[in-house]
Amino acid sequence: MLRFINDLPKVELHLHIEGSLEPELMFELAKRNHVDIPFNSPDEVKAAYQFTNLQSFLDIYYQGANVLITEEDFFDLTWAYLLRCQKDNVIHTEIFFDPQTHTGRGIAFETIIKGITKALTKAREELGISSQLIMCFLRHLSEEQAIETLKQALPYKKDIIGVGLDSSEDGHPPEKFARVFDMAKQEGFLAVAHAGEEGPAQNIIDAINMLHVQRIDHGVRCVEDPELVKNLIENRMPLTVCPLSNTKLKVFKEMKDHNVVSLLKQGLCVTINSDDPAYFGGYMTDNFVAVAEALPTTKEDLAQFTLNAIEASFISDTEKKRMTKQVLDFVANYA
Ligand code: ADE
Ligand code: ZN
Repeated sequence: MLRFINDLPKVELHLHIEGSLEPELMFELAKRNHVDIPFNSPDEVKAAYQFTNLQSFLDIYYQGANVLITEEDFFDLTWAYLLRCQKDNVIHTEIFFDPQTHTGRGIAFETIIKGITKALTKAREELGISSQLIMCFLRHLSEEQAIETLKQALPYKKDIIGVGLDSSEDGHPPEKFARVFDMAKQEGFLAVAHAGEEGPAQNIIDAINMLHVQRIDHGVRCVEDPELVKNLIENRMPLTVCPLSNTKLKVFKEMKDHNVVSLLKQGLCVTINSDDPAYFGGYMTDNFVAVAEALPTTKEDLAQFTLNAIEASFISDTEKKRMTKQVLDFVANYA
């Protein structure tokens, strides 16, 4: 099973590039950029990753991002993640970035986007990994700041497929961003939003009705509203679920309590993703393994997570067909 999971072609739809900053690279960049960090070694950083909820993680995560200053830093960060994708047989990835985490510290939008896109181009050419980029608004900041960020993104429209919404769900419901999502839609961006991670099922309903999203990020609390679950199934509304993230942030006590396999078997378009792999102890393969070890799954179930991710991705129908065939051929030839 471990070999099957490792070799299975995978598609990632929920990955914050800042969340792929490994402690070793954090240290290297801190040194290179003369940035003070409150740790003496990468091991000390790892020891600090004891989270009690989403906010306790976000506080450390935003602090870690302070070492990212130059275009080269954003390139190195993204390239390191893409090399992990290659190792895990990730064939396509849709990556979140949080411009406000950096522009708020005086880093130019151009610096961020150029560093990231250079790595994505190199991965397309040298590793055969395709990708899309999704710009997230930080929901703990104001609507006005989100609108300003959208304006900064307009010159880079060709590099950014959609907008998303992340950070503290508690106290910052979807309706706060209805207008900026409308503006983004008018500019041609697709839309996704974190909802129903820590927040209630109502946030999922509001993200669908008020933000007109194509996918829900997390969404695991949908089970609290059976009518919503029925709608998600009927409309094939994708949920980008992040199993290791959910256990590390205490959304579920243990992996055996996670609902991702149950949701799959009920016919929801659920996918498996790594969220912030450097902070939560694992990339794509690790997430698949953690699910398969704790919950009853067949090889077909695991392959279905990839098939769902292909269906839910922002690539052309031709590419979807090609990747679907690649997965089905892999499963058929595996025995
Ligand atoms: N930013 C990075 N990871 C996040 C998560 N799991 N939820 C909300 N915001 C995030
Ligand atoms: Zn996330």
